[in-house]
Amino acid sequence: MSLLLGVNIDHVATLRQARYALLPESPNAEPSVVSAALEAKAGGADSITVHVRGDRRHMQDADVFRVKEECDLPLNLELGITEEMMDLAFRLKPDFACLVPETREEVTTEGGLDVVALSGTVREAVKRLKGRGIKVSLFVDPVLEHIEEAARLDADMIELHTGAFANAEDPSEEISRLIAAAKLGKERGLQVNAGHGINYRNLPLLFDVPHLTELNIGHSIVSRAITVGMRQAVSEMLEGMKAYPAGE
Ligand code: PXP
Repeated sequence: MSLLLGVNIDHVATLRQARYALLPESPNAEPSVVSAALEAKAGGADSITVHVRGDRRHMQDADVFRVKEECDLPLNLELGITEEMMDLAFRLKPDFACLVPETREEVTTEGGLDVVALSGTVREAVKRLKGRGIKVSLFVDPVLEHIEEAARLDADMIELHTGAFANAEDPSEEISRLIAAAKLGKERGLQVNAGHGINYRNLPLLFDVPHLTELNIGHSIVSRAITVGMRQAVSEMLEGMKAYPAGE
């Protein structure tokens, strides 16, 4: 099966919030996150990812309900493990929930979830989400103990954090870590996804990492969309992804 693409449209909301932070419902508020989702679908996206952060810096609650209602692609909700976000997930009922660490100060998600240190909290969150029919992914660094723990915590999927890979001057060491993590994830029966910092340039370097099912990409696609439009930006990324070796 070919590599799937989840398009993270948070930064469409970031742009809107730059002007309409207090008035996201205004008839003048633009750009539209729903249009972005529909255009991503038209470009071939396999799923849409949204992250409602505690500080609501980009996606607002109403946005994600609207995207769910108006775009029929699978919806992946990224969330920090707080009661507020768990409640949102239960009401929204996305197809997938990806548990991520979240601190207010960070510009973006800065690392994987420490599923070893937070084992009890994560286990409970996974159980509650799965109990409501939501598939659960854990956003983890490519650290073997974390992959082992993710499997023990009964997650359906892991999303390997590719931020360190994307930021490395020489990514070879990070690629080796991602390869080992992906192999272990597959061995433990987890679906293996990857995301963060992936762009049109560094994408081919990830092709050495086996067993990948889906990439989650946001910033680079939304940035490219400013020049060529969302549909074209998504379709160009998918074109690049075609070279990923088909797995078993
Ligand atoms: N995956 C996760 C868990 C994320 O938090 C993010 C950023 O919101 C992404 C993927 C997408 O990262 P980027 O915007 O750098 O493509």
